[in-house]
Amino acid sequence: MSEVLVRRLVAPDAATFRAIRLEALRLEPAAFCASHDVEAAAPLEMFAERLERNAVFGAFDDGSILGLAGFLIADAATPQRRGVLWGMYVRSGAQKRGIGSALVAAVIDHARTVVDTLTLGVVKENVAAQQLYERHGFRETGLDRRVLPDGRAITEVLMALRIQGGKATA
Ligand SMILES: CC(C)(COP(=O)(O)OP(=O)(O)OC[C@H]1O[C@@H](n2cnc3c(N)ncnc32)[C@H](O)[C@@H]1OP(=O)(O)O)[C@@H](O)C(=O)NCCC(=O)NCCS
Repeated sequence: MSEVLVRRLVAPDAATFRAIRLEALRLEPAAFCASHDVEAAAPLEMFAERLERNAVFGAFDDGSILGLAGFLIADAATPQRRGVLWGMYVRSGAQKRGIGSALVAAVIDHARTVVDTLTLGVVKENVAAQQLYERHGFRETGLDRRVLPDGRAITEVLMALRIQGGKATA
């Protein structure tokens, strides 16, 4: 794991971001609430803009991207500023090496500087991802039942991590 570099993606990384994001949506459709076909039809500029509006972290090994995790400020105007962790994905051949954990840690470190609470939604059946988030202190706050645009009905486990005074607490 020591050779893997986690860094924030910037606009010139848009093509790399697009490739791994579309791979995630294509190979793991059940893990995400987004549509591969919708994002595949979007121009490269949309991915560059997303990198500017969000903080997206990539894990790289020898220049190749292996994983991705995104962060978005949801409620900047409310007294309790809230951020969302989204788009968590590690390529299948690179899983179980701690890369997912390193990406979650990078998002938490960043979130600590800009929000008070970090939230996420994870499909109920995705126990592996829930365990990863729990190891970082996230706790379940509720369930959300949704019908996605493609007609899939899913139940999401909502999770949150309170980040207080520079220290992450559940
Ligand atoms: C969920 C996901 C991001 C986890 O990524 P990952 O890189 O495998 O995560 P980690 O390696 O940090 O941890 C996963 C497991 O590997 C173990 N692990 C970590 N480092 C290890 C190592 N060096 N050797 C052996 N096992 C290791 C962890 O303890 C953990 O074990 P557990 O699942 O039995 O609890 C990945 O499986 C994935 O992308 N899945 C598909 C998309 C998805 O579900 N995204 C989440 C949407 S909410």
